[in-house]
Amino acid sequence: MDPLRVAVIGVGHVGLVTCVTLAKLGHSIVGCDSDEERIEQLRRGRSPFHEPMMQELLEETVRSGRLDFTTATPEAVATAGVIFICVGTPARASGEANLMAVEAVTRIVGRHARSDAVIVEKSTVPAGTSERIRRTLELDRSDRAADMHVVSNPEFLREGRAIQDSLKPDRILIGSSGGRASSVMRRLYAPLIDRGHQLIEVDIATAELAKHACNAYLALKISYANALARICENAGADVVAVAEVMGSDPRIGRAFLNAGLGYGGYCFPKDLVAFQKLAERCGTPFPLLREVARINAGAIDAAASKIREALWNIEGKTIALWGLSFKPNTDDVRFSPALTLAKKLLKEGAAIVGYDPEAAGPAKAELPELELAPDALAAVTGAHCLVVCTEWDEFKAVDLEAVRSLMRYPIVVDARNVFDPETMCNTGFTYYPTGRPASVQRSKILSA
Ligand code: UGA
Repeated sequence: MDPLRVAVIGVGHVGLVTCVTLAKLGHSIVGCDSDEERIEQLRRGRSPFHEPMMQELLEETVRSGRLDFTTATPEAVATAGVIFICVGTPARASGEANLMAVEAVTRIVGRHARSDAVIVEKSTVPAGTSERIRRTLELDRSDRAADMHVVSNPEFLREGRAIQDSLKPDRILIGSSGGRASSVMRRLYAPLIDRGHQLIEVDIATAELAKHACNAYLALKISYANALARICENAGADVVAVAEVMGSDPRIGRAFLNAGLGYGGYCFPKDLVAFQKLAERCGTPFPLLREVARINAGAIDAAASKIREALWNIEGKTIALWGLSFKPNTDDVRFSPALTLAKKLLKEGAAIVGYDPEAAGPAKAELPELELAPDALAAVTGAHCLVVCTEWDEFKAVDLEAVRSLMRYPIVVDARNVFDPETMCNTGFTYYPTGRPASVQRSKILSA
């Protein structure tokens, strides 16, 4: 193993995961950010967000001396052989990605980086961004003879599994113009490549576009399942069983066919619109993606309709929400379908009591009208209806008898199909699953 000195600019979710995992692989990493409080916290070895394995890995790599943090980005950049750009690319009002932060750090890199540094774009960006970075570096670099290479290395990390996805990746995607850039990136990921993880090397624009293509396709699968759920609800079919049938065909695959409250988070909603904008800019509009987003919004409307159907008037009712994060195992509430539903119900006059194992604080900050409960049972006490919004494991193991006895009305809207319909009916709930009959003749898929 031949360690490299790496600077990671931007220690948000992607940046910090990049820092700890590259340090774990044996490289010497410095994470840079202008947020002094965050850097101070990280230097003390405290993770600023919840991500499984993050805290342990952060402590381990900081203690080993292979990971440090700083607000002095120019100094960190000046000594690094590889520089990762991991700053945010939020959506503009138009839906296009705002690349101001990428440009700002590119200028710092241009002025301060070593003349042979490899600059790696890891933020999700529209195709063509690395080329803009390269041109900006040429304009800004102080050393005219510099031979800086720009590489696109999109991440495929899922929140809640980000460390695992980084240390055991399905694929490592590197977009470069080959030569030295490619060999430096191979050296960086050598421990993973040696362990047999797939490396895919393509040109830069292809790597950038492939990242958007993957996220948009996964969102499309989810919307396909949600559209099926609406049809199943009217046709008396079971969307979970339909997904099993579809998933047993290896050409389709079972993953990301779970109907529910739809996709949220900081990636899919934003990337889908950014990809549409890119397609339009290229003169090849992609209206299918607009439909994917429309079906996704419809999943929340469908849950709200079930609540209205169950409660008659929502005004004056108390509704318990289990799960506030955009998916389990994260405290991230950005574009969380649970909070979109909560806002809708609050607007209609309900009182909302939320519980989430990790995301209660961030949810309250985003939605101050939300009342928080300390645990799942406290949330349902006196509630007219329970809505399961995020499928945390803890909900699957809950004492259903206790839930029923604590609720004012025994009504459960299961927006993530966490519970077994038969068990729910036998426990005395009025149960509203998603895309399947409330009381089902169990669809059995028996293996030979
Ligand atoms: C997603 C991708 O899965 C990663 O590969 C990618 O690197 C990342 O975006 C990114 O661009 O940074 P993430 O947003 O963390 O990762 O979450 P996912 O696990 O993909 O879930 C996204 C949303 O889809 C969640 O709200 C989840 O509840 C929902 N979902 C997922 C469904 O509603 N149904 C499913 O079957 C699967």
